[in-house]
Amino acid sequence: MTEPTALHDPIAAEAHAATARPAAVAVVVPTFNEAPNIGPLVDRLERVLAGRQWEVVFVDDDSADGTAAVVQALARDNPRVRCLLRLDRRGLSRAVIEGILSTSAPLVAVMDADLQHDEAILPRLLEVLDAGQADVAVGSRYTEGGGVGAGFGAQREAMSRFATWLAGTVLRVRLRDPMSGFFALRRDLFDGVMRRLSGEGYKILLDILASAREPLRVTEVPYQFRPRVAGESKLDSAVAWEYALLLIDKRIGRWVPVRFVMFALVGASGVLVHLAVLWALFRGMGEKFAAAQTIATLVAMTSNYALNNVFTYRDRRHRGLGWVWGLLTFYAICGLGVIANVGVASALFDRSNEAWLLAALAGALVGTVWNYGASRVVTWRRA
Ligand code: GDD
Ligand code: MN
Repeated sequence: MTEPTALHDPIAAEAHAATARPAAVAVVVPTFNEAPNIGPLVDRLERVLAGRQWEVVFVDDDSADGTAAVVQALARDNPRVRCLLRLDRRGLSRAVIEGILSTSAPLVAVMDADLQHDEAILPRLLEVLDAGQADVAVGSRYTEGGGVGAGFGAQREAMSRFATWLAGTVLRVRLRDPMSGFFALRRDLFDGVMRRLSGEGYKILLDILASAREPLRVTEVPYQFRPRVAGESKLDSAVAWEYALLLIDKRIGRWVPVRFVMFALVGASGVLVHLAVLWALFRGMGEKFAAAQTIATLVAMTSNYALNNVFTYRDRRHRGLGWVWGLLTFYAICGLGVIANVGVASALFDRSNEAWLLAALAGALVGTVWNYGASRVVTWRRA
């Protein structure tokens, strides 16, 4: 006469126990086309995290291979598994940030989905935090006992070491593997830095460490970086560029937006392009000055547009017809920029003829700021 309730049915009871108590540890895993790796990773987490209240949050950027569907299928049977799906967005760091924000667990671990990070050290990372030994526990390839194995290649290893050295220039803590994507930290600590994170690129640990007001206490736990078995690496040639943006942002982002710096650098290159074309047409080929100047201006604007499109606004890059339309809006904006530039410069020049150089620079600055602001909201507005 008694119905099996959650208390009597052992399977239901276990499922109930898993959800009844909130997770004490959340593992945040960014994914992009990792479908075959999800199941094996969850199995391994089950093994190494047995005895803890944990959950895993997969943050998927709408992978074409159906990663999110695989996660959701698992999540229907396993309350520890969660899927956070992001649409129309890409980016490893921001995916991790949103994954952390989505959980309330007081301890958070971050790791890759592709089984390259050795989950066996997860308990060790968490113990370091439990014991209050450090604020952040980092899985490290470059401390005694760690390594990158054979699959890494001499070139990638050299690049990784150079990037590590560069990281030291923005960090106040010494660590051997600041580029690691495998680490654990206390949630309250993350809350303290989250509004200062730049979110650029893929080096989220570096971002967190460099964003802290006080130097954080870090402990490194060695592990062997494993070769990837299924799927492929998403880190392409843009990675070095995104890394540079992150470092620049950490250095000067408080004062000037890093994109403005990029935009101004591209603008400076445009001045050189302009002068080169002018020189070639006017001096070299004997064109009329006005014609040469017009062509040089167009070439410089086009080159500025193309460079900004590839570097400054890589994440919002135009292609195909959109590229042409973007170029036309850029011409229009720069046209107005010239008017602003000349207007300001002439007004200053009228006040004091001596300060002609200052007047010219002020005009150029106003023109650049206008071009930057206007092209940001028109040419490269967020989709
Ligand atoms: N959501 C999301 N969005 N996930 C992404 C994106 C993205 O745009 N790009 C990559 N990922 C996921 C991948 O699916 C994988 O789970 C993880 O982020 C790492 O990407 P990989 O493409 O495998 O990078 P890697 O192996 O070359 O480098 C990784 O390991 C290094 C050593 O720890 C990264 O984590 C590096 O940051 C790290 O230094
Ligand atoms: Mn990988």
